[in-house]
Amino acid sequence: MLVLGIETSCDETAAAVVEDSVRPRSNIIASQAALHQRYGGVVPELASRRHNERLLPVVHLALEQAGVAWDDIDGIAVTRGPGLVGALVVGVAAAKTLAYVRGLALVGVNHLEGHLFANAIDHEPEPSGGLLPTPSLALIVSGAHTDLILVEGAHAYTILGRTRDDAAGEAFDKVARAMGLGYPGGPALDRLGQTGDPSLVPLPVPFQDKGYDFSFSGIKTAALRVLAAQPAPEPVFLAGLAASLQRVVAEALVRKVGRAAREHHPRAILLAGGVAANSVLRRRLADEAQGLGIMVRIPPPILCTDNAVMIAACGASLLSRGKRDGWDLGASANLPL
Ligand code: KG4
Ligand code: ZN
Repeated sequence: MLVLGIETSCDETAAAVVEDSVRPRSNIIASQAALHQRYGGVVPELASRRHNERLLPVVHLALEQAGVAWDDIDGIAVTRGPGLVGALVVGVAAAKTLAYVRGLALVGVNHLEGHLFANAIDHEPEPSGGLLPTPSLALIVSGAHTDLILVEGAHAYTILGRTRDDAAGEAFDKVARAMGLGYPGGPALDRLGQTGDPSLVPLPVPFQDKGYDFSFSGIKTAALRVLAAQPAPEPVFLAGLAASLQRVVAEALVRKVGRAAREHHPRAILLAGGVAANSVLRRRLADEAQGLGIMVRIPPPILCTDNAVMIAACGASLLSRGKRDGWDLGASANLPL
């Protein structure tokens, strides 16, 4: 089975072809980072227009790179939410039109569930036919979400906790922006921190209560205050701040993952979302899982940030279970998992 995936929820225009649910044949991502950089964040109206201009060429490139024609495609999977509604609408309208014209099955995918399915790519499906190991414990960390989830079966989830304020990626982006690292700041913060002393700035590990919710706005404010107290920060200080912030954010996330794993005994721990590309978090989570003796899956960085391979994989799983959407499929900015 060949599925075309389409993703336009934020500022990447992406299309991909995936074979047999888990084998990527192409992965095209047209990033709009340069367009939004000068505004310090994504401008929704500009994002929608750019998706409109780029999407069809990106889809054609995905087919070309995969070496397939329209006749070879079995279905189209498209992100229907959550995300910027004007950006989502472009992908959904294009997917519906292409599916109608080409007579193909159509399925809408939840962006967060898509992120989870990055963990299925290039892995053998389970004996049950599911693409993800279950039961598993999943941490989805992106620019807009920080969710701790139990994956109980195929497409069956229980949310254990989520952020009460800023997402982890949002805290990284805002501090990075104040440090002059541009947008999106997470990747730049990651690079800078690699040369810094992670104990240079004594930041507290945020929000260690008994529950599974997270909170990152306090640590963001603390980091911004430390920065504001340095009128002319030295490079050593900036690198140290980057390293210190990442250390405590990773620590806050991983401690709760560890506690949830001890309570729920999952077969695997899955990391997903743009912040899963973070080198500090990847290392810290892998160590925790090893200590617990639980298998961990962390996708390659290119599949952590927004892409259409993960959407096609999730869509393929839904299509193979008979799920279809009709021509009334709509975009939903706040779609829950
Ligand atoms: O999943 P994603 O691409 O888009 C959303 O669905 O939000 O996540 C984007 C977020 C941004 O906050 C970005 O700064 C962060 O992921 N990010 C990183 C890294 N790469 C991307 N944060 C820390 N370290 C990275 N290497
Ligand atoms: Zn995302």
